[in-house]
Amino acid sequence: MKRITFLFLCFIALTGCQQNFEQTDMIPTGFDQEIERLLSTMTLEEKIGQMNQITGDYGQVSEGLREAVRKGRIGSLINEVNPDVIREIQRIAREESRLGIPLLIGRDVIHGFKTIFPIPLGMAATWDSSICVRAAQVAAVEAASVGINWTFAPGVDICRDPRWGRVAESPGEDPYLASVIGRAMVLGFQGSDLSRPKTIAGCAKHFAGYGAAEGGRDYNTTNIPENELRNIFLPPFKACIDAGVSTVMSGFNELNGVPCSGNSYLMNTILKGEWGFRGFVVSDWESLPQMINHGFSRDIKEAALAGITAGIDMDMVSGIYPGILPDLVEEGSVPIRLIDDAVRAILLLKFQLGLFENPVHPVDSFPALANEAHQKIAQEAATKSCVLLKNTDQILPLNPNQPATILVTGPMADDAYEQMGTWIFDGEEKFSVSFMQAVRNQISRPFKVEYLPGLEYSRDENVASFASVRQAAQKADYILAFLGEESILSGEAHSRASIGLPGKQTELLSLLAQAGKPLITVILAGRPLTLEKETMLSDALLYAWHPGNMAGPALVDIIFGKANPSGKLPITFPKEVGQIPIYYNHKNTGKPATPETYTPIMDIPRRAVQYSLGNTSHYLDAGYTPLFPFGFGLSYTTYTYEAPQLSTDTIQLGSAVDLNVTLTNSGSREGEEVVQVYLQDPVSSITRPVKELISFQRVRLKAGETKTLTFSIHTDQLSYYYPEKGQMTEIGEYFFFVGGNSQTNLQANLYVKER
Ligand code: GLC
Repeated sequence: MKRITFLFLCFIALTGCQQNFEQTDMIPTGFDQEIERLLSTMTLEEKIGQMNQITGDYGQVSEGLREAVRKGRIGSLINEVNPDVIREIQRIAREESRLGIPLLIGRDVIHGFKTIFPIPLGMAATWDSSICVRAAQVAAVEAASVGINWTFAPGVDICRDPRWGRVAESPGEDPYLASVIGRAMVLGFQGSDLSRPKTIAGCAKHFAGYGAAEGGRDYNTTNIPENELRNIFLPPFKACIDAGVSTVMSGFNELNGVPCSGNSYLMNTILKGEWGFRGFVVSDWESLPQMINHGFSRDIKEAALAGITAGIDMDMVSGIYPGILPDLVEEGSVPIRLIDDAVRAILLLKFQLGLFENPVHPVDSFPALANEAHQKIAQEAATKSCVLLKNTDQILPLNPNQPATILVTGPMADDAYEQMGTWIFDGEEKFSVSFMQAVRNQISRPFKVEYLPGLEYSRDENVASFASVRQAAQKADYILAFLGEESILSGEAHSRASIGLPGKQTELLSLLAQAGKPLITVILAGRPLTLEKETMLSDALLYAWHPGNMAGPALVDIIFGKANPSGKLPITFPKEVGQIPIYYNHKNTGKPATPETYTPIMDIPRRAVQYSLGNTSHYLDAGYTPLFPFGFGLSYTTYTYEAPQLSTDTIQLGSAVDLNVTLTNSGSREGEEVVQVYLQDPVSSITRPVKELISFQRVRLKAGETKTLTFSIHTDQLSYYYPEKGQMTEIGEYFFFVGGNSQTNLQANLYVKER
């Protein structure tokens, strides 16, 4: 039964259909008898030991760790990656402890273990679930090879604020795209059978609303009304649950006044109740005692009580469960049922992983770390993640066979470490290839490359070498400027109040522009940056995020034309930080701005009277549109869309309609386009966004080729969560918009009537 259930979930994941798969408490897991037998023999201390995760000794096996494992005081180890240590710890657990229960070995394998892929925001920019599956599979194989069996990914925090450092780890601003990416990563990590040696358990995080931190400042308060919580922030978690993710992690943030790690509404009512989640919830790092800081718990006793009653099944490294829970059970504050339910869920995962039979597998039964095949997949991911934002007069791609001199400059052109991005605990620079390294390997005469960084690192303010850069620019035929952020400027606890290029990079770009040569700017960063001036200075602009190990070969292939960029933005790019939050799926408001109603600040007549300007929702000094919209990305070719056609203009609730989209590659070279389908419900009892992404397809077209794509759309996909009525589809008119980005206005209208 277990396999059938899981295979069905995988079917959902692969087909992307959003069935409301009903999980009931009675679905047998296939291990219920073993779990109940084991549970019946466990002491209270042993049960609570399973709920306790501690950090390893980082390559050592201290006597204290040995003893704790022997006594069954530990259910999981985090941050141990030495295969010999893991093997010894599992041996002690299996052979020297009373019950022989193996450990979960957890590690953040966020975008690769040894083979480092683009940061999750870059993976989202591929809009390609298949490459996300394959990347997660590679990460799982490499992590499993050292004995890791659990990772704390995918992160599916919706983020509308690029000041937030962890936007780098997010799938962006849209719930549908985030759901597709999250599902794909769960499938890649877990496969169809967790007991297989090359799979690891996943963890959907951070439940929930963490990306809505006020001011984009990490760990800050989040206040999210029910309709936003249900329609924007929760769907990617539900998608991961439906795809069978094994665990969920609670967030550091407080949500609407209640810290996530003490939030029973989130974990008991929604996750385990409404959604029937049968896995377990792990707290984020010491987030249980942090509830004292939040002002939610008086002391660690109250924090432990709040955690266990709210649904935290395993405590990450704070140690308060073994110290506090026994007394709480003894005094009757915590019913033993809560402990038993937590232990059942933890034991279930250990059985599903096959740890009782094989807690570790021979290292030589796995492929080599960062091998050529893995790096090839990382290169494909890096190539697909790059987004071409500007390409004046088709200046790109460059022709490597043309006699020319290019100046390569900027702090990010030859930094194989920084390009890997945040959360690369196990990444190694020796496996990472920078652009300049790739150029040296791949580009030869008649093309001449001169390299002068100009700045040593992204925050560098030393302009001493600008004079020599200026001279080199005068002599070059093309200029390639590699700018962006060091990896430390994004990620956990690394939010920025201003999100322009750090250091003197903009000054460097201005100096390069003065040379009057074709100027191609490549950005490697962990977030959208405010680049209005830099975009204007550049003839071409390529956004590469932090592309991981294979940034260099991927960028050489794109810049010199071997690959055609196909990435699309998973998040809106603001013109300036004052516009944040700015996102595509915004509400229309009662006074929406239009070009006619907006007067740029410097066009306002002096002494203009109060009501002389359009009274609509915009900024006098920044307008109301982003620098680049969600879903945007150019190609070296062009795609021409016909107006979408519906198989019928009226359907009954509960049925489906075909939306046919015909597009032509009207350019001169083959390429891949991400055809996006957006919905608008113009009249709804709870107002809905002006556009909502509900489907997309990547399609490859030869030059001149025309294809018609069919999207089968069920009325369930038009649904919305209404606080009073739940998830449902209202009767009435719906608009579909189809195109290559969220600003498309190619429209088809549908009327949904009663059954
Ligand atoms: C960190 C992060 C979380 C990570 C965990 C373990 O603080 O918030 O995403 O998985 O601790 O490293």
